[in-house]
Amino acid sequence: MAIRFCNSGTDQHKRQENALLVKSMGFCKSWYYIIWVMFSLSLSSFARGSNDYDLDSLNAFIHDHANKSLGNPRTGILYNISLPANFSGMEVSAIRLRSGQFWAKGKNISLFQFPPKIRPKPYAKRIAILCQNLGNWSSYYHDVPGYRLVAPVVGFVAYDSSNSSTLGNLKVNFSVKGNPISVHFSHHIVLGGKDLTPKCVKFGADGSFTLKDMNKSYVCVSRSAGHFSVVVPKKHDQSILKFWVLGFGLGFVVLVLGGLVLAAIFRLLRRRKIVKMEQQTERGVAFDTFWIGGSKLPSASMIRTQPALENEYVP
Ligand SMILES: *[C@@H]1O[C@H](CO)[C@@H](O)[C@H](O)[C@H]1NC(C)=O
Ligand SMILES: *[C@@H]1O[C@H](CO)[C@@H](O)[C@H](O)[C@H]1NC(C)=O
Ligand SMILES: *[C@@H]1O[C@H](CO)[C@@H](O)[C@H](O)[C@H]1NC(C)=O
Ligand SMILES: *[C@@H]1O[C@H](CO)[C@@H](O)[C@H](O)[C@H]1NC(C)=O
Ligand SMILES: *[C@@H]1O[C@H](CO)[C@@H](O)[C@H](O)[C@H]1NC(C)=O
Repeated sequence: MAIRFCNSGTDQHKRQENALLVKSMGFCKSWYYIIWVMFSLSLSSFARGSNDYDLDSLNAFIHDHANKSLGNPRTGILYNISLPANFSGMEVSAIRLRSGQFWAKGKNISLFQFPPKIRPKPYAKRIAILCQNLGNWSSYYHDVPGYRLVAPVVGFVAYDSSNSSTLGNLKVNFSVKGNPISVHFSHHIVLGGKDLTPKCVKFGADGSFTLKDMNKSYVCVSRSAGHFSVVVPKKHDQSILKFWVLGFGLGFVVLVLGGLVLAAIFRLLRRRKIVKMEQQTERGVAFDTFWIGGSKLPSASMIRTQPALENEYVP
């Protein structure tokens, strides 16, 4: 007696294997469930790559929101901007500055130290600097293949704020004539391991990034605006393990799906054969059955009604 896989048998078998069938139906249901779960898991792990955490729209939203909530900011005062609840974990702050004062004294804003001798390019009498700390959202918006973020992603943008009573719309670059701008991560790093060499990473607007060695005090330097963080190399075996788990899962799904398709084809062929045999039986051809290897097969008996065509011999 063969155990059939997710299949309903012929009538005789059904009666014989009533108990087994009940069991195998539960078995089938759980198999379909497992297949479904594995399939959607592997789909979602593919979909994760192209997510809807779009940095451009986030920056546009933050700029718009900061501009609206600032109203009439006083020059030289740093404002913390509270974001809607569905962005909780991110920090945004903004400050308006006179360019002359900025050039002469520089400014410390959150993790950033802007030394003296920085000038907006193109020149503007007043500038606004918008700083953001993506906090626990960092890895949703920024990814460095082969590396792991060990600090939040922080960034800044500068705007020409001369004509505006708020932030202003026109982005400006910085021309740095003295020391570079520095980003101080020492209080925001969670290395999560020994013997790891952290590196500075700077993200460009188009999703590109550049890696640089970092000094002992966890400081990164830059001569232009952007987003910054700290990374360490990903453990090799971790990514290999992930690869194998994913590969194995996918292979398994393909195998099972292939098996199901084969089973369906086999069932279809068998049903078609049975229908054919039934049609032939109706036409009056007698069949005997005999057994080969445990399966019942029909065979034409030796004595059968001769088809008319074969008897067309006219003496
Ligand atoms: C910023 O806010 C001001 C007034 O609140 C408004 O006139 C201006 O269009 C806003 N700019 C942007 C980019 O939203
Ligand atoms: C970040 O943390 C805040 C609470 O501090 C939480 O509300 C938010 O959902 C978290 N965001 C993510 C993407 O985990
Ligand atoms: C910024 O901080 C550094 C280090 O604490 C300090 O030397 C510098 O004077 C500060 N600059 C301003 C403009 O406060
Ligand atoms: C500010 O206003 C001046 C004169 O109205 C104009 O030429 C200039 O383009 C404006 N700048 C910005 C950033 O809007
Ligand atoms: C700022 O610099 C970048 C490249 O360094 C350039 O593509 C961009 O046009 C500049 N922006 C302004 C407002 O000058």
